[in-house]
Amino acid sequence: MKKLVRKNILNMQPYLPGKPIKEVERELGISDIVKLASNENSFGPSKLAVDAMKAGIAELNRYPEGSGLYLRQALSKKLKLKCENLILGNGTDELIELIAKVFLDVKDEIVVSEGAFIRYEMAGDLMGCKVVSVPMRNFTHDLEGFKKAITPRTKIVFIANPNNPTGTYVSKNDVDRFMRGIPSRVLVVFDEAYYEYVEEKDYPQTVGYVKQRRNVIVLKTFSKIYSLAGLRIGYGIAVPEIIDYLNRIRPPFNTNSLAQLAAQAALNDASHLKKTIKLVKDGKKLLYRTFEQMDLSYVPSAANFILVDVKQKSRKVFKDLLREGVIVRAMEEYGFSSYIRVTIGLERENRKFIKALKKVLKK
Ligand SMILES: Cc1ncc(COP(=O)(O)O)c(C=O)c1O
Repeated sequence: MKKLVRKNILNMQPYLPGKPIKEVERELGISDIVKLASNENSFGPSKLAVDAMKAGIAELNRYPEGSGLYLRQALSKKLKLKCENLILGNGTDELIELIAKVFLDVKDEIVVSEGAFIRYEMAGDLMGCKVVSVPMRNFTHDLEGFKKAITPRTKIVFIANPNNPTGTYVSKNDVDRFMRGIPSRVLVVFDEAYYEYVEEKDYPQTVGYVKQRRNVIVLKTFSKIYSLAGLRIGYGIAVPEIIDYLNRIRPPFNTNSLAQLAAQAALNDASHLKKTIKLVKDGKKLLYRTFEQMDLSYVPSAANFILVDVKQKSRKVFKDLLREGVIVRAMEEYGFSSYIRVTIGLERENRKFIKALKKVLKK
């Protein structure tokens, strides 16, 4: 079999998702499990989105509108861009892969940050190109380091902003400086999966680069704050030429009709977003305070999750927390061997996590 498989696939490993609740129930025979492992929104989707899906069920015998025209129209209005600036993906995950397939050949290089969302590296590996990993500075993408890592072979730079799993962001000043200094032939991908959570005033509005017709793709998703992760829908924003190339290899019906309807309806529910932001803000305060009381250091986060140092092998803490009915993520595979990442959930979920963490760490 090995001989049949493309060489660069041989060394790849499947992506490890957060553990599903049902699996933990089955494995450990416990119930009332809290999942704070995949940066989802525990609040659940907007009622408008749910109603839109219900109304759409009767038409499931039909294929979806392939390009998601109505959703793109709604997004274009919101972003003050044209529909031609937008592409939908089966999650931003799919868009990351489409970008890699359109632009990367074996001899090319991509630049990513160490400790960044792992799907960029996987996309580079998929295409068999060189993945240049720049060390972080204080848990944050080091854009000066990125600049130094760019060579004549660099095709794409991936910037997760805020980054998962660190929750850190790069500021407008840093991004502007970076964008002034890089060659125009390099494509810059800003992955802004947690965009709507960010309240920091110096966070960059990178859509401006698309409006300036730069070689930039901005990625956003309905999986996180919109609480539609199970539907798999995200979008990319770029100049029409880039979108056109991505469309050439986009599977014909890559986003399903219910996802398109739900996403479009979710855009109209500002109060759902507002409530979620408050929930996360309050939860963050509670968790920060708790970590400080427990003498655990954490990375201040601009998103809906926190990376916290549990001062021992995080896999063990992860397993111990599972037995207490709390699913978090151990961050060894990202190089943070004593850190877990916890998603901020409902108040009751956060409190259950705190109680379990105190028990497990004997604090
Ligand atoms: C930074 C980042 N980008 C992209 C994704 C993928 O999101 P989607 O559900 O839209 O595929 C995630 C999911 O965890 C993420 O953390």
